[in-house]
Amino acid sequence: MCGIVGYAGNKEALAVIIDGLKKLEYRGYDSAGVAFQKGNDLVITKAAGSVASLETALGEQNSSINVGIGHTRWATHGRPTDENAHPHSSCCGKIALIHNGIIENYRAIRQRMTSEESHKFISETDTEVLVHLVEENYEGDLLQAVRTALKDVKGSYGLVVISSAEPGRMICARQDSPLIIGLGEGENFIASDIPALLAHTRRTIVLEDGEFASITMDKVEVFDHKGQPVEKEVLEITWDIEAAEKGGYEHFMLKEIMEQPTAVKETMRQRIDVEKGRVDLSELAFTSSQLESLDKVYIVACGTAYHAGLLGKAIIEKLANLPVEVDVASEFRYREPLFKKNQLVIVISQSGETADTLAALRLARQKSLQVLAITNVVGSTVSREADHVLYTWAGPEIAVASTKAYLTQLISIYLVALYFGEVRGAIEKEYLSEIVKGLNRLPSQLKDVLSEESVNRLKAYCEHLAGWESAFFVGRNLDYPVAMEGALKLKEISYIHAEAYPAGELKHGPLALIVEGIPVIALATQKAVLDKTLSNIQEVNARGGAVFAITQEGFEDVSRQVESIFYLPPIEDILAPVLSAVPTQLIAYYAAIARGSSVDKPRNLAKSVTVE
Ligand code: AGP
Repeated sequence: MCGIVGYAGNKEALAVIIDGLKKLEYRGYDSAGVAFQKGNDLVITKAAGSVASLETALGEQNSSINVGIGHTRWATHGRPTDENAHPHSSCCGKIALIHNGIIENYRAIRQRMTSEESHKFISETDTEVLVHLVEENYEGDLLQAVRTALKDVKGSYGLVVISSAEPGRMICARQDSPLIIGLGEGENFIASDIPALLAHTRRTIVLEDGEFASITMDKVEVFDHKGQPVEKEVLEITWDIEAAEKGGYEHFMLKEIMEQPTAVKETMRQRIDVEKGRVDLSELAFTSSQLESLDKVYIVACGTAYHAGLLGKAIIEKLANLPVEVDVASEFRYREPLFKKNQLVIVISQSGETADTLAALRLARQKSLQVLAITNVVGSTVSREADHVLYTWAGPEIAVASTKAYLTQLISIYLVALYFGEVRGAIEKEYLSEIVKGLNRLPSQLKDVLSEESVNRLKAYCEHLAGWESAFFVGRNLDYPVAMEGALKLKEISYIHAEAYPAGELKHGPLALIVEGIPVIALATQKAVLDKTLSNIQEVNARGGAVFAITQEGFEDVSRQVESIFYLPPIEDILAPVLSAVPTQLIAYYAAIARGSSVDKPRNLAKSVTVE
């Protein structure tokens, strides 16, 4: 996620801004920049790379700079380059803007501005349209210009604007991307995240969606979307820096689990059209004939990404009527796949740097197959070597155990399957529209699953689980890959030896391991195979296993068989894996806490496995 810092006051602005950007480095970024008033000029310095390299580029500045804005960019639209770094400048050079978020309709705005108004764009970013819109609407009041400009904008933003025409003033606007104002004595601040403020002030104002603010060194005014002044509560921040970096959560993993509703919403932003009931992945450069002539897809990945791929098989086969083979990358490259033309390889990788996945991508390219990369990191190696890239836009994932990146990989797979299905004429319009509506409901359903009551129920279950050295996850159909991912999560952070098994396979051997009280987490969300799963649960019960079922509200047969149960909101079978992953993530998290493991940095593991 990008970082924003703005300052107006009697200190040396650049020092405050650079220090603030450094406090936001933990969020991950790939370029940085500042804009500040120097005499009558607005100076912008920015570059791909670190805040330290920005400092070098800035060199020694005189101490009369008291207002400025700074930004660290996590690339979404446009590679990490100097031109794409923020701040962005208007054509006249008198306005500078920094932005967090995604502007959905930036292409149409840019098209209009380049053809009709001959604005000059120098970057590939969605953000740059904002500064030209502000310039277009500036008539002597920067706040008014920003408010008017944003009337045409669809998307998410946390933005800050300054202008040499109004020295000492920062204008901010917030929609779906956080902005916090810091209040000082003879100085005021704006930031995307609390850690940037704590060295200077603990008195804050949180901007809400649709609100604007005008900030100078001695005045902060907040307005609603109609331009009416808003009285805001001043909040005292009690967190220390470490807690602030985790958004007040104890670990990055929990913060990232809780971010999943927003992450999933960002992944789908500008890619689903609920009114039209369809998916738009025109950002991928496939031709219709390419997709129509496809006769097989290979999905290749590692670890958690592989589990997303396993679900991808069932989802793409059902929605796009396309055969899919799924491989772990370390096996794929040695099994000499029987490639044919008209086949596609999809690689899934959060980091985009996993050595085995990269090797699989290169093998496919050597054999002249098209490669689609689903990845979270713009400019990563897989994104640069694939023919097509679908970014998951989950924001940086700090914890080694993947959660929000996994869920956004899953969402990306649904988008690909629905898009391919429509182009290939493999999916009924009504069904397509129904699934798109189901996708659109997911962010709010995920919020329900992440409710305090749900979390407390799972925490209580983990008291029992944490005392065991082994556990089972079982499921059928789409529940089985979810069971595999749940078992991996529990293994990798609690060090409990968890094994996932197809529920129907227990009687072919593993039932021998079912002893009194052994934890068995049963995924039972698939209506189509519920009776069969129930009989497997009975097999476990009969041998004393302690079953914890994850099922849907309304599946009453399950509650009659199982003592501990976790209900998901009612959902289509095919979308259930998005919700059922969450309780398994929280089970792993609280079991690890109960066992005192190092949750964010589990032993022996790295966030990105760049070696074979
Ligand atoms: C997931 O919790 C693990 N950290 C690991 O399995 C990870 O998914 C795997 O190493 C693949 O990483 P990638 O998505 O960055 O390629």
